[in-house]
Amino acid sequence: MAHGLTWKPGDEIITAKGEFPLQYATWKPMEEREGVKLKIVAPRDRFITADDLIAAMTPRTRVISVSHVRFDDGSLLDASRVAAACHAQGAMLVLDASQSCGAVPMDVNELGADFLVCAGYKWLLSPWGTGFLWAKSGHLYRLYKRLRKENVVVSMREGRIRVSPHLFNSEQDIDRLIGVVTP
Ligand SMILES: Cc1ncc(COP(=O)(O)O)c(C=O)c1O
Repeated sequence: MAHGLTWKPGDEIITAKGEFPLQYATWKPMEEREGVKLKIVAPRDRFITADDLIAAMTPRTRVISVSHVRFDDGSLLDASRVAAACHAQGAMLVLDASQSCGAVPMDVNELGADFLVCAGYKWLLSPWGTGFLWAKSGHLYRLYKRLRKENVVVSMREGRIRVSPHLFNSEQDIDRLIGVVTP
């Protein structure tokens, strides 16, 4: 997903201190790859809040990428406030819903996020190694066009993109997926 966006040098990505490690593993390498800057925001009080994230924004902020519910302290972010602040300046909200989807009621339209990433093996009670990416439809097509050039995705049909089989690194992975999608 990070590779599917179009970046300009100097663009900023905001995440928070103490986030699930995938945030840093995903965004930190983008500094070298695209010349962007990752800002890691510390909470001003006990928990990270929408206000902390919004206060860290600058005109160069392109993406805020954080958990909906944190894995470490269980705090729930006011995502729609962050999304509104992002959209007011053309930035995007990437929400990791791994600790919320399946545990709390969720409506993507109310959340306002541009992208939702989610591991399947938490509150969705799915096998390890599964997960999903949801994107607003306009974003999905843009992702698809760019990722197809890099051979990451192979097709897009009825609002779904199919990931290239070479990304699954073992027959075990494929077995697990077939186990999920076959009725
Ligand atoms: C917030 C959050 N994101 C993602 C994950 C899962 O990440 P991965 O699919 O990289 O194992 C977890 C697992 O505990 C999590 O708590």
